[in-house]
Amino acid sequence: MCGIVGIVGTAPVADRLVDALRRLEYRGYDSAGVATIHDGVMDRRRAEGKLLNLEKRLEADPLPGTTGIAHTRWATHGVPNETNAHPHFVEGVAVVHNGIIENFSELREELKAEGRVFSSQTDTEVVAHLLANYVRDGLDPRAAMLKMLNRVTGAYALAVMFQNDPGTLMAARSGPPLAVGHGKGEMFLGSDAIALAPFTNEITYLVDGDCAIVTHSGATILDYSGKEVNRPRQISHATAYVVDKGNHRHFMEKEIYEQPEVISHALSHYVDFASHRVHPGVSAIDFGKVSGLAISACGTAYLAGLIGKYWFERYARLPVEIDVASEFRYREMPLSPSQAALFISQSGETADTLASLRYCRDNGLKIGAVVNVRESTIARESDAVFPIMAGPEIGVASTKAFTCQLAVLASLAIGAGVARGTISAKDEKELVHHLVEMPRIMAQVLNIIQPQMESLSREISKYKDVLYLGRGTSFPLAMEGALKLKEISYIHAEGYAAGELKHGPIALIDENMPVIVIAPHDRFFDKTVSNMQEVAARGGRIIFITDAAGAAASTLPTMATIILPVVDEIIAPIIFSLPIQLLAYHTAVFMGTDVDQPRNLAKSVTVE
Ligand code: AGP
Repeated sequence: MCGIVGIVGTAPVADRLVDALRRLEYRGYDSAGVATIHDGVMDRRRAEGKLLNLEKRLEADPLPGTTGIAHTRWATHGVPNETNAHPHFVEGVAVVHNGIIENFSELREELKAEGRVFSSQTDTEVVAHLLANYVRDGLDPRAAMLKMLNRVTGAYALAVMFQNDPGTLMAARSGPPLAVGHGKGEMFLGSDAIALAPFTNEITYLVDGDCAIVTHSGATILDYSGKEVNRPRQISHATAYVVDKGNHRHFMEKEIYEQPEVISHALSHYVDFASHRVHPGVSAIDFGKVSGLAISACGTAYLAGLIGKYWFERYARLPVEIDVASEFRYREMPLSPSQAALFISQSGETADTLASLRYCRDNGLKIGAVVNVRESTIARESDAVFPIMAGPEIGVASTKAFTCQLAVLASLAIGAGVARGTISAKDEKELVHHLVEMPRIMAQVLNIIQPQMESLSREISKYKDVLYLGRGTSFPLAMEGALKLKEISYIHAEGYAAGELKHGPIALIDENMPVIVIAPHDRFFDKTVSNMQEVAARGGRIIFITDAAGAAASTLPTMATIILPVVDEIIAPIIFSLPIQLLAYHTAVFMGTDVDQPRNLAKSVTVE
């Protein structure tokens, strides 16, 4: 997704703006630009591709000025090139934009009919033309901004500069996040608190329908009618976290190896490592009193929710309705205020997930957010926040956030079982004991399987298609393994319930498509082995991810057998995530793709 930063400063801002953009790189982008005002003149530098190209442009042709805006663009309208890069300029107005102006076609035609000439293919440029029109008609920047905001429709975060008002930045939010940062004699704008962390931790988050007027002395926030509104100033948790790879080649590799540590942070928030009990009151939602649970999320977060469904239903006997957020609210499923709803989101800004949250809130459900960013929009619009404590996840492919989401969901499901009397105190202690063992087991597994996964990745990289199979909680994990592989190596992969093989996918089986079978030696094991026999009988090549008991129980020939420790069912999905993450990672590295920022992907999808 696009990133926005702005500074109304007392010293030159161009370099600080680009540094702030670097902290937003993880969101995914394909071009970047910066604009400043100096001695009453507005100027800009833009470049296609990575920030390095913009930095080279600035080195060759510096940009003075103490007020500026900057942007990383993830193309929605118009190819990713310099012409379409933001900021967009029209007659002394500069605009950067995250999101989509939904009525841009109508506005573009109207403006062209008035003789306006467009220089880009973007929807954003209509905003700059509208503002330039209003300023030319005699409106001051504040009036021009409010008039424009009442014309455009869609999901957007905007930052605007007017050449005739160099000490002011204007901002507006309707969808994608935007925050005001409070400095000493300087003020800031940013898409999230991570971008602003080097400048300040005093943040005011704009909400949908806010227009902010930011000057050196502070920010005035208006609604679109021009009425002043109050928004709280908060202290952000997003420290000036040194976002670097350490001694790893990629953020994704670093984040895979951080999992034992961050899982223990997550667990410590929900369970007592000494008594092996779930912290009482861990849940601001009283699962003892809800009639059912709705879960909605996207991508990997949705797959974590699918695994959570198994746990809530098995351990808490709580009926769970789950769907991907882009489908959830359009199904118009019957919902009741006696239910609770959980929204799982690493970024806490995913537009579809936020829309599903609002749909459930409008239906009177109690809202819980399982998020990594505690100040995110999804967190702020929930009744209960369940932080996953994973630390900033920079790699676009989610790894540590996924396993931390699972650790939190497992803790909540056990807590719900305790609250509903469906698991005994003895069961609770045993289950929590297994959770508490995870960090040690994960560290052990990562060391043991790393070389095997790296060499296996060379094999996998030769194929065009891969099938993942699993049963029970290994079925969503099979889909997660397929998602990991396809999103960073670009190899087509599908995850299927092993029992579904004979209902269609078996037609695909031959030596040209490896079949990765995820099968701890659990109650589904024997049935999964018979699926493996079906694959082997048709010349299929099997990669068997199992445990010591499983390896001993099956004599089938395999392309490779990855042997993990025997673990309890409740932690198996987390432990078995590790080989599928490493396989995807090493395959992508071997194939030379952009592991941390795969093509076409963004870390946080803030448009529907
Ligand atoms: C995960 O590897 C993907 N990058 C993607 O599916 C992601 O999980 C999804 O976009 C949801 O993001 P969120 O957790 O920030 O809501």
